[in-house]
Amino acid sequence: MELTYKKQSCTEINENWIGKEAALAGWASTIRDLGGIIFVELRDRSGLFQIVADPKINPQVYETFQKLKSEYVIQVKGKISKRPDDTINEKLQTGTIEMYPDEIKILSAAKTLPFIIEDEAVSEDIRLKYRYLDLRSEKMLHNLTLRHKIVTAIRNYMNSLDFLEVETPILIKTTPEGARDYLVPSRVQDGKFYALPQSPQVFKQLLMVGGIEKYYQIAKCFRDEDLRADRQPEFTQVDIEMSFVEQDDVIKMTEGLIKEAFKAAGVEVNPPFKRLTWREAMDRFGSDKPDTRFGLELFDVTDIMEASTFEAFKAVIASGGTVRAIKIPNIAHYSRKDMDDVRNLAIKFGAKGLAWVTYMEDGTVKSPVFKFLNEEQIAEIQKRADANKGDIVFFVADQPKVVFDVLGRFRLYFGEKLGLIDKSKHDLLWVVDFPLFEYSAEDDRFVSVHHPFTMPALEDLDKLENDKGNVKSIAYDIVYNGCELGGGSIRIHDSEVQERVFKALGLSEEDIKEKFDFLVQAFKYGTPPHGGLAIGLDRLVALLTRSESIRDVIAFPKNSQAKDLMSDAPGIASEEQLRELHIKLRNMPKV
Ligand code: AMO
Ligand code: AMP
Repeated sequence: MELTYKKQSCTEINENWIGKEAALAGWASTIRDLGGIIFVELRDRSGLFQIVADPKINPQVYETFQKLKSEYVIQVKGKISKRPDDTINEKLQTGTIEMYPDEIKILSAAKTLPFIIEDEAVSEDIRLKYRYLDLRSEKMLHNLTLRHKIVTAIRNYMNSLDFLEVETPILIKTTPEGARDYLVPSRVQDGKFYALPQSPQVFKQLLMVGGIEKYYQIAKCFRDEDLRADRQPEFTQVDIEMSFVEQDDVIKMTEGLIKEAFKAAGVEVNPPFKRLTWREAMDRFGSDKPDTRFGLELFDVTDIMEASTFEAFKAVIASGGTVRAIKIPNIAHYSRKDMDDVRNLAIKFGAKGLAWVTYMEDGTVKSPVFKFLNEEQIAEIQKRADANKGDIVFFVADQPKVVFDVLGRFRLYFGEKLGLIDKSKHDLLWVVDFPLFEYSAEDDRFVSVHHPFTMPALEDLDKLENDKGNVKSIAYDIVYNGCELGGGSIRIHDSEVQERVFKALGLSEEDIKEKFDFLVQAFKYGTPPHGGLAIGLDRLVALLTRSESIRDVIAFPKNSQAKDLMSDAPGIASEEQLRELHIKLRNMPKV
């Protein structure tokens, strides 16, 4: 597209242009003054192009070149020429051509930048403070470009399947996804607050009641939770809901979407992806988002320990606990200090202790717990572990949640440390049959594993009241290389079941009425069976660009304190604003 200041982009120019006129514009990225001749790499979004000034050829242009500093915005016009052989740059797309401009204009001067754009040693805080400069880096441009391509591929795919993209509101009541809401005070209604959506969940279900049948949205979501590398307070979901579906329909549709999204990033994946039940994922990998690119699977030794004389383990088992183990190969040479470190790691991961058996290279076997076991039990452990010389088997005894968490993290730690993970693999899988509820000791009640609109497995409906811990759900997560990319469920479309689930969650009649009455009422007017899922777009792009953090694929992210270092948001509200919003602060914020 020809623009007023710029007729071509840098990399649009190739050898066919030799002898022809071009008009380029961009930033002066590197400037080299070779005593008499000045070379400038002009950079625009498309790439780099070399422009040259020689006082003997055009003294006026040369004079302007002398004024150039790094990151000045300039416009040049002139004929494209072939570079002399000795200045050809094979690494550059435009490395065989250049321009001695007839005209150069400085469109904008630039202060000295606070950092060198491509300098990888610059701290993230500095890059975030000057994000608009960081966006000029090749990495950020690449990431945002790929993000755009992935979103485009997703939109094309959804549109081809006749989905409607519908926007849902941002100022809402609440959507319970298990995080804290961001609240927005209402000026018009004294003392009342909107919540920002944690997801469009409730609205997409109401779209199904509304007969939309197939909905998607590239949706902004807001969650006030503790931030990590893969979490932002505001993030983007590819949010999807479909009517007249069962789990297999949603899975099949999503597999096509994943295939297209990966293809946009140049990665070929072939559905159908494998499926693991949640139970199997926990038992084998200690995680509901297992990385199955490597082995190191866990195994159960509860029965052996229960029959032993190890009172500490027996007490754990008697109180509903479990004992699981993992075999780590080729580490029997670990020193006492190494073993202390491993044990401290287990404790950091939440274990109360760590027991082990070492299968020494010389054939002897050592363990602090063998004194509690008979020969048969010792042999059975070796058999289950398939342990050989050089291996160590670690045991953790605790409540199942702790045991799986510790050993699951152990597995990842050693997988990484021992280089067992094949980083070239694209390991996609579904985890299905999640439990509907999990017990929260903190709240002393059962809470939803997904959200309260998830359909219980039909065969477990009669457990809703009296055996909550064993109700399975029709919920599924898609996992990529050990990261949860997305998740969803078949929803409850029967208001009676919905009310039973709300009650199982400990919501009183008043709570239900106050929070979800509109939804319960809506379901009474003819609701199709429906389900869907949401994929974390930032995570997807971060994984496909091999970024360490989702911050690297978001143009203007927040830091780990949910702060925007560039604009310094969140900011202080004036007394007048607060008064209008009927708000009085308990503490004055620190300036
Ligand atoms: P869920 O809460 O599992 O499901 O979210 C779906 C996906 O969104 C991404 N995600 C995040 N990404 C970045 N920062 C965050 N703070 C963050 N939180 C979640 C993850 C996650 O897998 N409404 C349901 C979906 C449904 O049932 O249809 C939901 O939001 O990749
Ligand atoms: P003790 O006889 O109490 O010294 O314990 C023997 C071994 O079992 C020690 O190595 C402890 O660290 C370990 N141990 C104790 N409690 C647990 C637990 N809950 N899980 C795993 N190992 C444990």
